[in-house]
Amino acid sequence: MFSTTCGDESHVLTLHCGNGEMGDLPERFYDCFVAALDDASLPDDPAFRAAMQAYMRWAVDNVMAYSAIGTVVPDGLPTPRWDWDGLKT
Ligand code: HEM
Repeated sequence: MFSTTCGDESHVLTLHCGNGEMGDLPERFYDCFVAALDDASLPDDPAFRAAMQAYMRWAVDNVMAYSAIGTVVPDGLPTPRWDWDGLKT
């Protein structure tokens, strides 16, 4: 739904790309996401928490792969899909 109404993965990556060195911001973003799982009272099932954390670790690393100044994100990247076993290709 997000992809069809707000923009695809290329749009989201373009919002984040080319900022250069960002210090500890990526790690703080990840920590906020993990803390938000508790704030939102999501289930503390270990497999669920592990899947969510693995997804956000991957997603932050994916954003950071485009952080170099001048990076151009390719058009038409599909929104990543993640399940219990990780990234679906
Ligand atoms: C290094 C970690 C990240 C930082 C510091 C960060 C920071 C930001 C900032 C500053 C914006 C606003 C951009 C603008 O309006 O110009 C934004 C937008 C957004 N970010 Fe992130 N972000 C990070 C990672 C992520 C990740 C991993 C995801 C998805 C899994 C994500 C999803 C989004 C979305 C959906 C928007 C809004 C897009 C829209 O308004 O259309 N971000 N982020």
